[in-house]
Amino acid sequence: MTEYNIAVLAGDGIGEEIMEQALKVLKVVESRNDVAFSLMPGLFGAAAWFETGKSFPDETIAICDKADAILKGTIGLGHEESKKIPLDQQPERGGLLPMRKRYDTYANFRPVYLPPSLAHFSPLKPKIIGDGIDIMIIRELVGGLYFGKKETGVDEQGLRFARETLEYNEQQIRRIVQIGFESAMKRRKLLHSIHKSNVLKSSVLWTDVVGEVAQDFPDVEVQHMLVDAAATHLCLNPGQFDVMVMENLFGDILSDQAGGILGSLGLMPSACVGPDKAYYEPAHGSAPDIAGKNIANPYSMIGSVAMMLDLSFQMTGESSNLWHAMESVFAAGYATPDLSKPGTDVTMVSTGEFGDRVVAALSCLPVPNR
Ligand code: IPM
Ligand code: MN
Repeated sequence: MTEYNIAVLAGDGIGEEIMEQALKVLKVVESRNDVAFSLMPGLFGAAAWFETGKSFPDETIAICDKADAILKGTIGLGHEESKKIPLDQQPERGGLLPMRKRYDTYANFRPVYLPPSLAHFSPLKPKIIGDGIDIMIIRELVGGLYFGKKETGVDEQGLRFARETLEYNEQQIRRIVQIGFESAMKRRKLLHSIHKSNVLKSSVLWTDVVGEVAQDFPDVEVQHMLVDAAATHLCLNPGQFDVMVMENLFGDILSDQAGGILGSLGLMPSACVGPDKAYYEPAHGSAPDIAGKNIANPYSMIGSVAMMLDLSFQMTGESSNLWHAMESVFAAGYATPDLSKPGTDVTMVSTGEFGDRVVAALSCLPVPNR
């Protein structure tokens, strides 16, 4: 029996209700496989700040340090609510970014996946969707503008200014580009390197490093694409992409756009992987407007569990079972109100019922050998 410690940080907004579904699923995975999960709940985000004065409290840090993997829900407050917390202590700056830095989770995997059973959620025309969308966005997560030097003040003309620095060294670029090539080797052997080298020097360096790493992967076809062009191509012809690799801010923006072509950010799970630790989270926010209503789809949270099983626990078979289980619930015509557009032919179920249906579907699938 293998034992794993999992830090469970439900966070804010819909975090609690979608995490509940993830834990239901984990329980079933545990009962079917030769594994034991020890769950260690911790406060994180605005909820943590109001209770302890910190978005990433010391106690939570200790839990995460001990954990084999971290499962994180969603964080953040609405625009007005968030003003109650000082800027640098808000959940994003005071919790999430420090977590990324602490565990050096430089490799952010964001699958953009639209199987035929989900095609009705997408705003794209069927002829553009084609056989479905299946892209892996790989985003550098601990460098660039997010973590560069920042300064604010008043300049000589008496004007307020803010200055932030976009800096990458070749080592930071090489390690994420390497991940891009390795992922491409496991998939269609096609890598799109996204950059802005017609303007940014950091992108010139990025592109040079891509050329160097490419020498070690002669089987991978590399396509260099400007980030603004990539935004257009994602809408017009998403099928041309397989693995896309890019720096932090480009990845933030394009991955949200990718959620848009699927039809909802609620379909975007993610994995954030560092040298010794990984954490797993939906790529979206805490959706305060629908929190507590039991209507948020738990797909991104359960998908994050699937990624954890695969990447942290090497339970690859059970991980793909989970994807299949979720797909089969959609294929049977069920969805939650946050995902479904009026007039589409779906049966609305609550967050909890969706979770129950995933559990039931998973239980019908054969347990894989490890
Ligand atoms: C994401 C989020 C975060 C980011 C925020 C919450 C800081 O938008 O994970 O994409 O910008 O990285
Ligand atoms: Mn984002």
